[in-house]
Amino acid sequence: MATIYQATASAPVNIAVIKYWGKRDTKLILPTNSSLSVTLDQDHLRSTTTARADASFEQDQLWLNGKVDEIKAGGRLATCIAEMKRLRKETVEAKDPNAPKLSSYKVHIASYNNFPTAAGLASSASGFAALVASLAQLYNLTVSPSILSLIARQGSGSACRSLFGGFVAWQMGSDPSGNDSLAVEVAPREHWPQMQALICVVSDDKKGTSSTSGMQRTVETSALLQHRIKHVVPERMAAISKAILARDFDTFATITMADSNQFHAVALDTEPPIFYMNDVSRSIIALIVEYNRVSIAAGGGYKAAYTYDAGPNAVIYALEENLKEILQLVISYFPQRPSEFKDVLGLFSKNTTDINTH
Ligand code: ADP
Ligand code: DP6
Ligand code: CO
Repeated sequence: MATIYQATASAPVNIAVIKYWGKRDTKLILPTNSSLSVTLDQDHLRSTTTARADASFEQDQLWLNGKVDEIKAGGRLATCIAEMKRLRKETVEAKDPNAPKLSSYKVHIASYNNFPTAAGLASSASGFAALVASLAQLYNLTVSPSILSLIARQGSGSACRSLFGGFVAWQMGSDPSGNDSLAVEVAPREHWPQMQALICVVSDDKKGTSSTSGMQRTVETSALLQHRIKHVVPERMAAISKAILARDFDTFATITMADSNQFHAVALDTEPPIFYMNDVSRSIIALIVEYNRVSIAAGGGYKAAYTYDAGPNAVIYALEENLKEILQLVISYFPQRPSEFKDVLGLFSKNTTDINTH
């Protein structure tokens, strides 16, 4: 009986606190600045991908959520698959003459996202991370997550960070080959288990301007981006890494909110301008600002930090002890739910059902 070569892997999304926005090399996906994110460790926002290699397959093919997704020659999917085949050939088949020559077989890949695709909830991050992870398993690779991150990066920049759990930095690197533009762990999840993320899905519509085209336009037209990458991000990367290691929520929150604000300012500074947040997004910002102000006025510290990706959905980072209060607050100020809020998910929480509103 013929052996079946098949593997399944799943990867979660990550939400950046220092945003990646801009490429210095669009083909290799090399960023204009380093970035840092937290990988969400619950099951709500995940991609699950199954890859199979077979000598009888006539072409590489991908089904995304059950529909054929074209693999364009020279495109991102083709690059990731080719790079994974190369790793199989060089690190397995070249060393073991008995290893089946899977690198010469075509692959069929099926992937499912359990959340909206291309809606600003980082599906490209979990999607390409799961793709690379499933092929790594299929090909029996024993390479490190940082090496795999080099390949996921060429699918979608933010994907390189989803190969690690916990707190993850994508170091921009300086080599034109891209071989030093990879993800590294800043701290594992267990380092700061009290850190939680609350996702407020304001809209799950497909975004108007994709991250890829939006950031390219920003690179071409925004003067503010040049200031950001030279004079703002390097200091913030160092300071927020230090804050994470020290479990210093005040500093983490201050930098996270400032960086989200600057990313959206840079989008606005693009020609023509890009608006990712909407009125609901802005009123959630106002709510969190007021909530923190009251806490600080009473002698406490920051209790919540908002951040927005390329879409209107809020991600609120908070310590576990404040999560229920924040959820109650959000719900009481947005009684229109679920028309304005399609969903409110408590991620990261050990007891998710507790804070899930439906
Ligand atoms: P998002 O905010 O969801 O990351 P992007 O515009 O960055 O939106 O990327 C969306 C694109 O990512 C999709 O159109 C698709 O090409 C790719 N993608 C999403 N999910 C997957 C997946 N599971 N497997 C492969 N590619 C995926
Ligand atoms: C705002 O990784 O989706 O979420 O590399 O072109 O695929 P491509 O873009 P993508 O951009 C993510 C942008 C962001 C910020 C971040 O995740 O760091
Ligand atoms: Co994306």
